[in-house]
Amino acid sequence: MSVTVRVPAKVNVQLAVGAARPDGYHDLANVFLAVGLYDEVTVTPSPDGLRVTCAGPDAGEVPLDRTNLAARAALILGGRYGRDADVHIHIAKDIPVAGGMAGGSADGAGALLACDALWGTGASRTELLDICAELGSDVPFSLVGGAALGTGRGERLTELEVGGTFHWVFAMAGRGLSTPAVFREFDRLGEGREIPGPVASRELIGALAKGDPHALAATVSNDLQPAALSLFPELAETLAAGRAAGAPAALVSGSGPTTAFLAPDAEAAEGIAAALRASGTCRTVRTAAGPVPGATVV
Ligand code: C5P
Repeated sequence: MSVTVRVPAKVNVQLAVGAARPDGYHDLANVFLAVGLYDEVTVTPSPDGLRVTCAGPDAGEVPLDRTNLAARAALILGGRYGRDADVHIHIAKDIPVAGGMAGGSADGAGALLACDALWGTGASRTELLDICAELGSDVPFSLVGGAALGTGRGERLTELEVGGTFHWVFAMAGRGLSTPAVFREFDRLGEGREIPGPVASRELIGALAKGDPHALAATVSNDLQPAALSLFPELAETLAAGRAAGAPAALVSGSGPTTAFLAPDAEAAEGIAAALRASGTCRTVRTAAGPVPGATVV
């Protein structure tokens, strides 16, 4: 008996970042959109106790110990329900690792939902979301999917209406970026400046509701982009290649280094993807559309 859960990646269409808080986190106005690139997390009872395996092109970079969010999810749920987390968690990984697309968060949400189903714990949605927030700021969104505004450190979600499908191209970089390092660089670049509180853009939320890619392209923004570019200057070339290929919007996804290009439609996305592949400025290129549902048992 095993349970498999499919979990999407995300792109941040707006990431407004406030000043560092006393606890080290930053208040955010974080507009997430779930897109159709997926990890699949399978849990199976394991006589040898908790173990994690991973397959996929980047599998070698995934930690297989208890620091993996999928392992932590099983341990936290087991702890709350008085169960040993004796499961084999297998991650079929298609979301880039350390890429700014919430791949680790997806695995945390996926393992949580899969263990809940395998063990029949029947945890409420509220309780699952609470465990997700304990696992990490982006994990609740991986459970919920669709589109949502995250406030606080990003974990407090308000679902958003989306009036259509948005077509994206993602360019994966040759190495990852550490999210804490990018936030530290954001703090360093902002030293001595007054950082305003983060505010969600009404125009952007309106563009999502209308399903209008040109209106969305005019309003996307990422306050972490200068920090990601400072740590990874070559990303500027990828962004420029996407813009030259006609992408109406080009931005770093979350803390990066994956770059995201919004296309007017699916056909234009394929054209931008081909131009990015030919540009030699990135490792791989994928197209994906969103919104898509969050973690789902398959
Ligand atoms: O919440 P999560 O564990 O995913 O966050 C990883 C790191 O990213 C934090 O330790 C912190 O350095 C940074 N972070 C932040 N502000 C947020 C979310 C994350 O500074 N709102």
